[in-house]
This record gives sequence, structure tokens and C-alpha cells, in this order.
Amino acid sequence: MNTYTVGYFVGSLARESINRKLALALTRLAPTELRMREIPIGELPLYSYDYDADYPPTARALKEAIAAVDAVLFVTPEYNRSIPGALKNAIDWGSRPWGRNSFTRKPSGVIGTSPGKIGTAVGQQHLRSIMAFCNSPLMNAIEAYIQFTPGLIADDGEVTVESTREFLREYMAAFHGFITRVYTALPRE
Ligand SMILES: Cc1cc2nc3c(=O)[nH]c(=O)nc-3n(C[C@H](O)[C@H](O)[C@H](O)COP(=O)(O)O)c2cc1C
Repeated sequence: MNTYTVGYFVGSLARESINRKLALALTRLAPTELRMREIPIGELPLYSYDYDADYPPTARALKEAIAAVDAVLFVTPEYNRSIPGALKNAIDWGSRPWGRNSFTRKPSGVIGTSPGKIGTAVGQQHLRSIMAFCNSPLMNAIEAYIQFTPGLIADDGEVTVESTREFLREYMAAFHGFITRVYTALPRE
């Protein structure tokens, strides 16, 4: 089995973010062939193409972090039926300068949780559109829209409901399979 490094983005900057708890759970449940590490986005300034000639250190670090991983995973809330501005800002930084898009051919996945039944479905659809333009092969299936009920995931990432735990485990196994297929079809130069 191939081993890959996955950089995950948490779309929320909130201290008590339920998506951060989900990211922790996914890290625990990932197959041993996936090494998980966070790519932080909270310190990035707002992107402008004025920076293209000379990226600030936080944005350079972001691009280096994306380059250093085999795949990216977005664990994100839905804000106003789309993705949070902080996450879009990070993607904009990663996608530029023109011709140096960090996401091109980089396999990606998306998952998210919200207290409501919709489970971030609409926000995820927006992200699919964005990552298609960024030329990132994004896993189509399985989809994962997680309704966060109180206590579903403990602060240490332990998932308390067995069916959800097994589904998240299955999701990460599917993501591993997807990354393998992408690199089989599109070998790295
Ligand atoms: C600015 C804002 C917009 C939101 N918009 C949505 C929405 O469109 N759909 C939804 O299901 N929940 C929405 N919510 C509620 C979030 O799902 C909820 O706050 C959740 O805890 C966010 O995830 P986080 O804790 O990881 O930040 C919104 C919350 C905020 C702060």
C-alpha cells in the first residue's frame, strides 16, 4: 500500500470549532498509510495580486506546505451557503501567482460538519467548483455531510457514535484509494 502525506485545512478560525474536532477525528481514523498534518490559514493577510511579486512569509509558508504534501483535505463549515472567507482567502493565495498554482494536479477531498441537517452540503458544492478551476482532482464519492449533535466528537477527537466513527473511517480509506488512483493515472514528473 502506498503511503501519502495529507495536508488538511480547517475552514473555521473559531476556538471551539466543530470542524476542528472533526479534523482531529479524521486524523485518528485515517489509515496508517496517510500521514495527516494541518496547513494553517489563520495568519494569512487578505490576498491581493499586489503581493504576487513578493509573497509575505506566511503566504510563502502556505505554498511550501501545500507543495510538501501529496494531497489536501478541506474540513470546513458552511458559511452563508458557501465556504468561509478565511478558507477562500487561503485558496486564493495558494492558487497564485498566475502559472504557479499550488493545487494543480494535487488530489483533494472535502468534508464538513454543521449543527443543521444540511451538514455543509451547499458549501461543499461551492468548494468543488473552486477546486475544479484550480485543476485539483477532487474525490467525488463518497460524500460526507456530518450533522454535529452535542457530544458527537469529544475534544480529543474521539467519535462517540459508532456508526459515525465507522463512516469517517470509511471516508478516509476511500480518500487513500482516491489518492492512489490519481497518482496512478497522473504520475508525478
Ligand atoms: C457567518 C456564519 C454563517 C453561517 N452560515 C451557515 C450556513 O450557511 N449553513 C449552515 O448549515 N450553518 C451556517 N452557520 C452555522 C455554522 O454551521 C455553525 O456556526 C458551525 O458551528 C460552524 O462550524 P465551526 O464551529 O467549525 O466554525 C453559519 C455560521 C456563521 C458564523
